[in-house]
Amino acid sequence: MKKFKTFFAGLSKKQKIRYISLIVISFLLTESILLYALTNSGVKGLFEWVDYVRTLVYLICLVGFIFPVIAGIIIVISQNMNPSKKPFKSLMALAIFSLVIPVGFYGYTVSIPAQRSGDKPPQLLLLNGSGANGIPNMAVSFWTKEDTNNIFTYGSTVEMDIEIIEVSSQNKHSFLLRDLEPNTTYYYQINSIGKIYNFTTMPNLENTYKFMTSSDPHFGASNANRTATNNILDQLADPVNGYQSFYMLGDMVEYGNFDMHYKEACDTLSPVTSQIPFRPVIGNHDIMFGGHTYWEDYFSPDLIEDAPRDYFHIEVNGIHIFVLDLEWGTESYTKAQKAWFENELEKNTDPDDWILVMSHCFYYVSGYNVDGSDWWDHQEMIDTFTPVFIENGIDMVFSGHNHIFERLENNGVNYNIVGAFGGHPDTYYEYSVVGQA
Ligand SMILES: [Fe+2]
Ligand SMILES: [Fe+2]
Repeated sequence: MKKFKTFFAGLSKKQKIRYISLIVISFLLTESILLYALTNSGVKGLFEWVDYVRTLVYLICLVGFIFPVIAGIIIVISQNMNPSKKPFKSLMALAIFSLVIPVGFYGYTVSIPAQRSGDKPPQLLLLNGSGANGIPNMAVSFWTKEDTNNIFTYGSTVEMDIEIIEVSSQNKHSFLLRDLEPNTTYYYQINSIGKIYNFTTMPNLENTYKFMTSSDPHFGASNANRTATNNILDQLADPVNGYQSFYMLGDMVEYGNFDMHYKEACDTLSPVTSQIPFRPVIGNHDIMFGGHTYWEDYFSPDLIEDAPRDYFHIEVNGIHIFVLDLEWGTESYTKAQKAWFENELEKNTDPDDWILVMSHCFYYVSGYNVDGSDWWDHQEMIDTFTPVFIENGIDMVFSGHNHIFERLENNGVNYNIVGAFGGHPDTYYEYSVVGQA
């Protein structure tokens, strides 16, 4: 303590303030990365599941501790030195260096929404709720790099007699399609030029719904299997197959913080998903470091008051589809989402109805072990959801996350893994014991 006093006594008031501020700020900023990792649902999952991310976060935090320690050592060995000399200057240089890591990290995170790679073509998105004729609410959404005003026209004839005009100039463009008629072909166009898109609504037939679901294309990944992606899209687009909707269960992109990956995804999907009602859900890769901003701009239009934007209850002909936001596991199962899901199940479904649940993260599945983490039966998900599934008569569950195709049954619930939309196939996996099924 005496040595600290001696050292600080030799500093001017200005030097003292500068010195203490640098130590405190660099320490707090560096340690706040750990806080960020544990409070941001996407990063928390990365931290828990991926070994090298955990190591990286620990190393960054260590830098935050190392600086004050080195500062202490320098104080001890330099107690008789003039503070304007080399040790003090070295200490300042070290402090500035330890500021670069957190400032760079937060600077990059904050700048992510501005790093756009270009316009995103239209998507025909399924939303929460139904219109007057029992057809789910939908929206056409697209994004322009420059602020623009657009005129959207649509209708059940090629004349497209309904017009929606944007009142302000913006990047994000979404147009609500409500009260659609069943079994009807609609046409739409943007600014009365270029392509006339069309789609056909579901027929009004009780307990009938033909949809496709697949997951994990990982657009942007260099090791992806695009032949699989294209084959599935071809099947989806083929009118002979008559698919009425497409549900894509996450990991749309390899890295959610790279807009160029979203650009590739939107450009590849749009020719099909602008004409077949489409509902993607967020995966753990999509949300990485600020990826949620991109996701909201491209797939979560804010058009229906009080409706959630990341999870959905879509009803078609008495069949209920719940699309949940479960990325790595239950860390994204917020109190609001839980309350909404339980309330919807209780108030708006009957156990005799067909009820399907979709999410990115899996429940029961075979898998593999990576760096000590078991990528099979997800105990936290099983404990949280399977009692709810059984109690509420859920019939089928679909999820991705593992890049395999698998189907199994447990306690009357049918579990399907559909992660074969083009992400690098899991090459090694083992079968675990699935409950007592
Ligand atoms: Fe994946
Ligand atoms: Fe995943």
